[in-house]
Amino acid sequence: MITVIGSLNYDLVTFSRRCPRAGETLQGEQLEEHLGGKGLNEAIATARLSVTKGHVRMWGNVGDDEHGKKMVAALKEARVDTGLVSVLPGVSSGSATIIVETESGENRIIIIPGANGELKPNDEQLAANFKDSQPGDFVVLQNEFPGVRKVIEWLHANKPDVSVVYNPSPVRDDLLDPELLNKVAYLVVNEGEAEQITGRSGGEKDLLAALHQLLPRPTLIITLGARGCIFQSGETVESVAGVKVRNVVDTTGAGDTFLGAVVSQLYFGADLARAVEFATAAASVVIQRKGAAESIPEYSRIALRN
Ligand code: RIB
Repeated sequence: MITVIGSLNYDLVTFSRRCPRAGETLQGEQLEEHLGGKGLNEAIATARLSVTKGHVRMWGNVGDDEHGKKMVAALKEARVDTGLVSVLPGVSSGSATIIVETESGENRIIIIPGANGELKPNDEQLAANFKDSQPGDFVVLQNEFPGVRKVIEWLHANKPDVSVVYNPSPVRDDLLDPELLNKVAYLVVNEGEAEQITGRSGGEKDLLAALHQLLPRPTLIITLGARGCIFQSGETVESVAGVKVRNVVDTTGAGDTFLGAVVSQLYFGADLARAVEFATAAASVVIQRKGAAESIPEYSRIALRN
């Protein structure tokens, strides 16, 4: 079983040639609504990018509103088990305001947690929800809910056979703590996050070496945007080049898709290099389409190319 714990957001996306400067009013090109949230994106990516379905579940919260209903329906359609998604009365679903610059596809995101802000798993819930866990199971985490530290520490202490895959995004200073990060099995960060954790800057190989010195336990993956990624398991360092894309439309959800794809590959027995290569290809598809969750491809689309 793969359990994704985290956020579900309703994304309000403005496409504009560029972002306005402070005090400036700009006419944009389009306003669209999409489904997102790092947790929901990861869950849908993990399910869609798996060779068979039925082994992914999501643990999160939505509000008692239309957005929440749509997000739960999208998860179900992707064959994600939503039994652990709670509908909170009197609370709004999480949302994100996103500006995508159409010249580059780059985004800027502000999240409002809403129901995600109430996701605080406690000992009893964790014990109940992981009572049937098995070696080989995965848990996928990011930072869009308040209970991240609790989940990592509880799983480390109680379910050491479950692999925790963690993307510490959006960055929270209190969670860039080496003692905590050493408790996960896989840490996936971008260059900026790696620099913040290590306090170092410089070339990607030096950055990875510094990260490994600080965090000897986890398998480490540093994503490098269009340049691909570099990764280390034990003492083995490898890299995968980025996939060349002619037209970057919207980068939203690419990182979440990468994470979900890596996990789906590892779960079915791929080695790390294969998992990262597959995930790089999947993320390259997402950035050529608008929206986060809706742009995530199915397994067959990526497997046939690779
Ligand atoms: O990673 C992309 C996601 O970040 C968006 O879907 C948005 O909801 C925010 O959570």
